[in-house]
Amino acid sequence: MEQKDLLKEIISHCKEYGFVFPSSEIYDGLAATYDYGQLGAELKNNIKTYWWKSMTQLNSNIVGLDSAIFMHPTIWKASGHVDAFNDPLIDNKDSKKRYRADVLLEEYLEKQTQKIQKEVEKGEKRFGDSFDKEQFIATNPNVLRIKEKQGQVQERMKTALNDSNLEDLRQLIIDLEIVCPISGSKNWTEVRQFNLMFSTSLGSVAGESATIYLRPETAQGIFVNFLNVQKSGRMKIPFGIAQIGKAFRNEIVARQFIFRMREFEQMEMQFFVKPGEELTWYEHWKEVRRKWHLNLGLGEKNYRFHDHIKLAHYANAACDIEFNFPMGFKELEGIHSRTDFDLKQHELHSGKKLHYFDPSTNESFVPYVVETSVGLDRLFLSVLSASYTEETLEDGSERTVLKIPAALAPYKIAILPLIKKDGLPEKAQEIMRMLQLEYTIQYDEKDSIGKRYRRQDAIGTPFAITIDHETLENNSVTIRNRDTMIQERIAIESLPAFLNTHCSWPSILGALV
Ligand code: GAP
Repeated sequence: MEQKDLLKEIISHCKEYGFVFPSSEIYDGLAATYDYGQLGAELKNNIKTYWWKSMTQLNSNIVGLDSAIFMHPTIWKASGHVDAFNDPLIDNKDSKKRYRADVLLEEYLEKQTQKIQKEVEKGEKRFGDSFDKEQFIATNPNVLRIKEKQGQVQERMKTALNDSNLEDLRQLIIDLEIVCPISGSKNWTEVRQFNLMFSTSLGSVAGESATIYLRPETAQGIFVNFLNVQKSGRMKIPFGIAQIGKAFRNEIVARQFIFRMREFEQMEMQFFVKPGEELTWYEHWKEVRRKWHLNLGLGEKNYRFHDHIKLAHYANAACDIEFNFPMGFKELEGIHSRTDFDLKQHELHSGKKLHYFDPSTNESFVPYVVETSVGLDRLFLSVLSASYTEETLEDGSERTVLKIPAALAPYKIAILPLIKKDGLPEKAQEIMRMLQLEYTIQYDEKDSIGKRYRRQDAIGTPFAITIDHETLENNSVTIRNRDTMIQERIAIESLPAFLNTHCSWPSILGALV
């Protein structure tokens, strides 16, 4: 299936089966906001649990936090968000569509990478088995020409972004003859800075002093609680604080389903370290997070690291883990070495000392911070886009199956009495009661067994337990695997051990210990 079509299929599948609905739909929706339905809420919670347990339960030096969304407005002045949390926007005068100037340029660069890939494919065809990819990339004149141009554009873009040189950013778009995807014209406005924070007023009297912001990242709630947690939890450096919560950004271009929304959820962890050790920890967390993603089993080739061209105002090193979404490789998670910027800024603006005292050396210092920050909604989309499969079976029939990692699936088990009589439903309910304290279960006795299997495939239930007449004779059931469709007969008493191996939390977290 074409990648573009895949996104459309996923969007309609999500709606049909209760994963994601457009928000406020009966009022024609609200741009870039979505509601998670009955299955979406389960999947989202499971992704959260996978992250939360791996951060806090598997690391004795990382603890959790749940800070308020509303915070003192000076926090956002201190963090730099009031002055610098901007995106450079540009409008096309013909289509009246608004774009992020840096995204237009990133897309141009991505097209050049695709051109290189095409040259490589041509080379592969021409040279067959004797093809040496590395040598080809290092010597082919077409590839070298594209790479040189790419390097020049990257350099110019980096300088313009770092210097906030909006004129040159626009000039680069003009020089590269980038056209508006809607109107096809190069009729661009000036580039302007646009602050992404939503603001609202506190109390009944609206005024300058009462303006507060909806947090654009959860991280600041961690920074301002750094000493509270360190002291009350007797934490010793290095240690981390993890938080899951909503964040809000007035994105210029919010699109591509739940990939870029104005209200979304982040899972962030700030790791406090000794100054000078931050880059070692930065490498450490890059590797830990790489393994965490790969452990989901969505395919190694679907991930890549991308170093930031423009470092955020707080970072001395930063990269993204990108995922191969239906729209191509895009940011899934950011890993940032944030230096002591945030804590120092909060010291300055609050007048409170945010030093850590090391009793072993009698030293007092402001820690450096390494952050891992992943978007929950983007993870959700990555799981769905890698899991969504349309298959034609041997008998020519078709099935749509969500091959969601078993431990994350909304329902782990379907319990299906073969027919609605002869005591089979009663036996099925008995098995359900035995398993439902541990696992989410869907009970279904309507329609043919084949139809019921298809329904479970479409919502990603990894195992279907069928209760038949033999069950009443020898206390055994068949258990069907969603992905292979193979059924095996097992004793009812073996079910807990079977499910523990295949879809419990230890089954997915085990490899990370
Ligand atoms: N505290 C650092 C921070 O917020 P970021 O790279 O701006 O860094 C972190 O955001 C992650 O949050 C991103 O990698 C992405 O997964 C998610 N994210 C950011 N903006 C988003 C949006 N508008 N919609 C959905 N997810 C978003």
